[in-house]
Amino acid sequence: MVSFIAITALLASLVNAAPHSKDRTSVGLNALAQGRGKQWFGSAADIPGTAETTDTAYLKILHHEFGELTPANALKFMYTEPEQNVFNFTEGDEFMRLAERYQSKVRCHNLVWASQVSDFVTSNTWTAEELKAVMKNHIFKTVQHFGKRCYSWDVVNEALNSDGTFSSSVWYDTIGEEYFYLAFQYAQQALAQIGAQNVKLYYNDYGIENPGTKVDAVLGLVKNLRKRGIRIDGVGLESHFIVGETPSLTDQVATKRAYINADLDVVVTELDIRFAAEPYYSADAQNQQAADYYTSVESCLQVGRRCLGVVVWDFDDAYSWVPSAFAGQGGATLFNDTLEAKPAYYAVSEALQGKKCTVC
Ligand code: XIL
Repeated sequence: MVSFIAITALLASLVNAAPHSKDRTSVGLNALAQGRGKQWFGSAADIPGTAETTDTAYLKILHHEFGELTPANALKFMYTEPEQNVFNFTEGDEFMRLAERYQSKVRCHNLVWASQVSDFVTSNTWTAEELKAVMKNHIFKTVQHFGKRCYSWDVVNEALNSDGTFSSSVWYDTIGEEYFYLAFQYAQQALAQIGAQNVKLYYNDYGIENPGTKVDAVLGLVKNLRKRGIRIDGVGLESHFIVGETPSLTDQVATKRAYINADLDVVVTELDIRFAAEPYYSADAQNQQAADYYTSVESCLQVGRRCLGVVVWDFDDAYSWVPSAFAGQGGATLFNDTLEAKPAYYAVSEALQGKKCTVC
């Protein structure tokens, strides 16, 4: 009788075990990804200057699980060149030192974007030639300062509307479409000048993870660059998805294959999968999110080596950018806001181990 009760209690505890009570793998997600031929499993981190910088529990997981780091802000224009031709690489250098300590690769992010650009750029009235010179100076000085410490640069970020036309920005509105090609040309020249032509050049955007007009437009821009003899090595698929609305495995695989067939590397650069509304932590919600993460990681595995890896846009709900960018939305990452791994984490781990998803 006693043993019957004991066994029943044991079985009940196993059945009721919440996914977060599982142990994380001892090797971490990055090692699992590398075991499957990927270059890394990475994360963005908003370091330095934020609570993350000194959060030892956070940093321990960052170090253990991830083998690539993307600075969420430190290399953006407004921080690296706050006033015209006055450069400040202090934060970028600090980020690089952390990545070196952790032996992580760094995807450098980004050079030319409509957002987070310095006031001197947006508040002046420029001729096209003047603004080209500003862009060239920014690209040359930044790229040459960080040199080979960057695995790659997101040269142009989010240049297109969902219909594939160029979106309004100080760059496009002043220079026209040519700004896009010039940015890559300058980055290529700057790297060649310092013998760092191995640093890869990327276009990075969201809404290009599903077949459609915007993907066709990106492929068109790649053709145009190459016609001009300008290098582009890869496309960054941001992959900011919504739970239950994540592109299907078939669509994510087809899209990645389309870029690879155009002789491009592919990286999932900013993966997070947010809830459009509460509840974020009910069992059903968590399982659906796990399934969406599983699909997204699996798509990178299915297309082979030229999907180099996956980067999540930070890994815990406390430091996620989502609640500040999308009112009322959240719960988007692999760990909850007290750093417990969610079913989504175990789904990613299972995908990377070639296992069926048991938490989806
Ligand atoms: C976000 C950062 O995470 C935030 O901290 C910042 O306030 C705004 O930018 N697409 C990108 C990233 O390419 O640079 C953005 O990062 C998220 C969307």
